[in-house]
Order: sequence, then C-alpha cells, then structure tokens
Amino acid sequence: MKPIPVILIAAAVATASVYVLAAAVANHGPKDTRKLASAKADLVERGEYLVHRVGMCIDCHSPRNEQGEFIATKHLTGSSLPFAPTVSMPWMPVAPGIAGLPPGFTEEETVRFLMTGERPNGRPAALPPMPPYRFNRADAEAITAYLQSLRASAR
Ligand code: HEC
Repeated sequence: MKPIPVILIAAAVATASVYVLAAAVANHGPKDTRKLASAKADLVERGEYLVHRVGMCIDCHSPRNEQGEFIATKHLTGSSLPFAPTVSMPWMPVAPGIAGLPPGFTEEETVRFLMTGERPNGRPAALPPMPPYRFNRADAEAITAYLQSLRASAR
C-alpha cells in the first residue's frame, strides 16, 4: 500500500476539526441559553417560596382588601400595617413597596440588605417590625431575583 502523504493527513485532520468545532459552537448557543433560563426560573421559584412561605414578607409588605384578604395582583406593593405595638418602642407603621426591587436599591444592594441589614447610602437600619434577617447569599439572591421578576408597575 502506498503511504498517505503527511500533508494529506494533516489537511484531513484540520478539516475534520473545523467541522467538529462548528458543530460544537452551533449546539452550544441555544442549549446554554435554555440552561441559563431554567436556572433563573429555579432561582425565582425558590425566592417566591422564601418570600411567601418562610420570610412571610407578604404579611407586612402586601396590601389587603376590606375583608383583610390579600389582593393577589398587588403583592409586595407596600402597605400600612394593620397592627401596632402595645408598648412604646421604635416602630415604622408602613412597609414600603418592594415589588420590582425596593426603591433606590440596586440588585446587589438588595442582596446585601437581606444578608446584613445595611441599607444603601448610609441610611439607618430599618426599624421594627422589619425583622433583622441574615439570609445567606444564595437565599438573598433568590429573594432578590423573585422581587425583580415582579412588575414594579403593579405599585
Ligand atoms: C413584620 C413585618 C415585616 C415583615 C414580615 C417584613 N418586612 Fe420588610 N419592612 C417592614 C417595615 C415596617 C419596613 C420599613 C422599615 C423602615 O423604613 O424603617 C420594612 C422595610 C423593608 C425594606 C427596606 C425598604 C427601604 O426602602 O428601605 C426591605 C428591602 C424589606 N423590608 C424587605 C423585606 C423582605 C424581603 C421581607 C421578607 C423576607 C420582609 N421585608 C419582611 C416590615 C416587614
């Protein structure tokens, strides 16, 4: 058998790698986007669970109708509190709207607030009855992603 010239083998290998590369690039884009979108959806779903079932943020931050029931379309758009302390203590009787994101907070500032209680621009700590949450980063990011997913225009 006649030996195949090295140059031909090299050319074949080069051509094949171009095809393999092209296929990898073509497959990569959409699959990666889908993976990212589903990771984001998981994060938002976890945030919704933490807000509605664990942190109970809705108890204070969501308005209610005259029967005391939540108005589903207005969740987390802010509310005056339907309760007050029985002794004199620091107290803020209104919970601001946080749907979209808290006003004046960036995404990272919201995460930081939920982890440390620190508000941006050196504002003093939130008064009671806002609980002094110390979420870990994963939970704080999930809550922030969920708040961001809500339309601020529902305010
Ligand atoms: C028991 C009532 C209550 C609960 C539960 C509650 N909050 Fe609050 N929250 C408040 C009140 C009242 C304030 C206003 C405090 C202040 O301005 O000093 C506040 C303030 C905040 C602020 C600061 C907003 C700003 O403009 O500075 C954020 C952000 C916030 N809450 C998010 C949350 C999240 C997220 C949850 C749930 C994980 C939650 N809160 C649960 C009552 C509550």
